[in-house]
Amino acid sequence: MADYRQTYQRSISDPDGFWREAAAAIDWHVAPTRILDDSEAPIFRWFPDAELNTCHNALDRHVDAGHGERTALVYDSPVTGVTRSYSYRQLRDQVAVFAGALRRLGVDRGDRVVIYMAMVPETVIAMLACARLGAVHSVVFGGFGARELAARIDDARPKVIVATSCGVEAGRVVPYQPMLEAALGQAAHRPDRCVILQRPEQPVVLAERDLTWAEAVTDAAPAECVPVRATDPLYILYTSGTTGRPKGVVRDNGGHAVALRWSMEHIFGVRPGQVFWAASDVGWVVGHSYIVYAPLLTGATTILYEGKPVGTPDAGAFWRVAAQHRVTSMFTAPTALRAIRKEDPEGKFRFAYDLIALRHLFLAGERLDPQTYRWAGDLLGVPVIDNWWQTETGWPIAASPRGIEELPTKPGSPSLPMPGYRVRVVDESGNDLPAGAEGAIVIGLPLPPGCLPTLWQDDERYVRSYLTTFQGNYLTGDGGRFDEDGYLYVLGRTDDVINVAGHRLSTGAMEEVLAGHPAVAECAVIGVHDALKGQSPRAFVVLKAGADPDGVAEELIARVRAQIGPVAALRRVDVVPALPKTRSGKILRGTMRGIADTGDAPVPSTIEDPAVLEALRPVLRPGSGRSV
Ligand code: COA
Ligand code: AMP
Repeated sequence: MADYRQTYQRSISDPDGFWREAAAAIDWHVAPTRILDDSEAPIFRWFPDAELNTCHNALDRHVDAGHGERTALVYDSPVTGVTRSYSYRQLRDQVAVFAGALRRLGVDRGDRVVIYMAMVPETVIAMLACARLGAVHSVVFGGFGARELAARIDDARPKVIVATSCGVEAGRVVPYQPMLEAALGQAAHRPDRCVILQRPEQPVVLAERDLTWAEAVTDAAPAECVPVRATDPLYILYTSGTTGRPKGVVRDNGGHAVALRWSMEHIFGVRPGQVFWAASDVGWVVGHSYIVYAPLLTGATTILYEGKPVGTPDAGAFWRVAAQHRVTSMFTAPTALRAIRKEDPEGKFRFAYDLIALRHLFLAGERLDPQTYRWAGDLLGVPVIDNWWQTETGWPIAASPRGIEELPTKPGSPSLPMPGYRVRVVDESGNDLPAGAEGAIVIGLPLPPGCLPTLWQDDERYVRSYLTTFQGNYLTGDGGRFDEDGYLYVLGRTDDVINVAGHRLSTGAMEEVLAGHPAVAECAVIGVHDALKGQSPRAFVVLKAGADPDGVAEELIARVRAQIGPVAALRRVDVVPALPKTRSGKILRGTMRGIADTGDAPVPSTIEDPAVLEALRPVLRPGSGRSV
């Protein structure tokens, strides 16, 4: 068997051969003869002449191969007390019926469907039903509020929206349908229909335009898989950029299927019939790739967990799920482990469960701090594999490929570049930096299959945002360094994107919401270090002359919660007399962040008025003041 180095080198020196071989694991309606289309560089397309259906590869092909009775999906929901399994045949049948229901509502190949749902099996069914029809799904995370949902509706222009009546969080029901109505009140685009899954925890009264999931599927004729071009979009997943307008990351059908199938086996070491659990949310890229598509494309069993690491009911929840469903490999965010460690530092709960089947713990979504890495490894006695990637790439850029070779891992490093990713650390002029030197992490073009080919209907923004800073390279937005052994260290974002409890958020979007308050003259939001969540947002606002500061902080926090969503977790707003700026008027967010994180930071020579920063220092310093 080839080792990591050989595999990686082959992917770089012979990408056509490498991905042609990987493509053999997929069932094609029309097999690819060409592998990469570079005729419109820097926009590249993989498998330009091939056709397939992603849902066929995720479901029907396993049933056709005689594995219909194998468990495809286990729904485990401590918040509702329900556990339910679906065989590949059952899931295929339910997806086919819901696809028929969508078709009856007018959804056709290429049409968009927005999915705003909780972590229930119907969410996966709705996604796969879209894939079956060649329609394009766009899942919006349930923790997002009306403004975020409206922005996505207006950009994707869905024919139909599918929503749950509510979500169930630990100890509280979160109404979703009223949030949907509020979003539709703000959005310019109107969907034809909304399909609402009535959950017993909180059914809702429907608008004239809407129908229930149960009504939608009544007498619906099961739909067959519609072959689509490999380059046709499978989904759009919006992600936070540096501005308030989210970016519509497009995923194609062919490259995605090939890359995810390859990654499941070679990076995650998962084979057909094994049980893989990504404790994430289908609203994020980890959920798309490793709750839904990769395990099903592989013929593995996936777990859909509607619960938290703690409080549903206790800090043993993850170990209970892993033991009960005989999970072979699990995947979560470091923040979830920090939450468990906080409640159960000695890991007593873990020993109440038999984790004999567990072989790996994969962690991603934010930087894995060495303390959490060691704690998890000691507790579980299995390799802890940090892996680094983004919504844009859809699968790991850097990891330790457990299906290829058992390489040593190092604390603080997501290990090595994965096949197809020409990872470079560069200086401001784009020159490669030597081992040990920190710089911008970029990836040489073309990106491998599975990565975004572009942004939804916006090639120009795709090129401007990612491909122009360093010609010929994709800008990841992360900074870092390599060590002497070629291991990568990812040190954090170099832009205004922040990562709160593994959730990617835009400080720019929060600033837009704050600036919309009538009392606010100007504002800045920064992400500051948080021991549990990695980062948390802090806001600084300057009020208009004569505005009453009383209660403004509380109002602003409520405003961000309603508009961006509870997941933004803005808990602290400071009203300040002025914000520190450069002479050209740019707010010194980086300096503010440095002082908030470490107590000090270099002051740029371009500062307009040093006294403003000095006045702010005591408020910024770690441990100062309280959250609301
Ligand atoms: N629908 C509605 N509300 C949601 C939601 C959803 N899908 N997800 C989160 N929220 C709400 C929460 O209820 C919470 O509301 P509150 O302010 O009223 O308490 C708020 O959004 C913040 O949620 P969260 O970030 O989950 O923080 P938490 O304090 O509830 O839990 C952790 C902390 C660490 C346990 C939790 O963040 C966690 O499990 N993180 C892992 C994240 C992850 O898997 N990311 C994916 C990348 S792999
Ligand atoms: P998202 O698009 O939501 O997956 O967020 C991607 C961002 O999360 C990356 O650009 C990184 O900043 C951060 N990230 C994800 N995984 C890791 C990791 N393993 N180590 C460090 N940062 C990570």
